[in-house]
Amino acid sequence: MITEDLNLFLSNLNVFYRKLQNYHWNVKGEDFFIVHAKLEELYDDINEQIDEIAEHILIIDGQPLGTMSDYLEIAQIQEAQNEKIFSNKIFENILKDYNILIENATKVKEDADNEKKCATSALMDEYLLDFKKKVWMIRQMLMK
Ligand SMILES: [Fe+2]
Repeated sequence: MITEDLNLFLSNLNVFYRKLQNYHWNVKGEDFFIVHAKLEELYDDINEQIDEIAEHILIIDGQPLGTMSDYLEIAQIQEAQNEKIFSNKIFENILKDYNILIENATKVKEDADNEKKCATSALMDEYLLDFKKKVWMIRQMLMK
């Protein structure tokens, strides 16, 4: 179901937001200033997407999940730890997380196409482009 898939996506986005800000606080190393600022940019984007996805669920007559316990129960993205961390480890971790988000958006798009929900399908295209661009940039940085 589209709304269930969107709520899974919303849950992952919420856990990911918390994770990115945790990393923004805990990043250590010589590249601190650059990575600290970049992580803020990334979680600001996710914050906007959280609001857009929750409102999209309402637009299509669904009920968005709105509690942390709901999100943690179903999210596939793992939370970060309360510890200092080097940027290469952060980027390795969030590369996997962006790929989870790509899987979520792809699943929503497939369901939306099957049910002829064009607006939902078109919205997922924007997310896929955004996440794939971020994956490309992170892989460039990690030299992968
Ligand atoms: Fe900050």
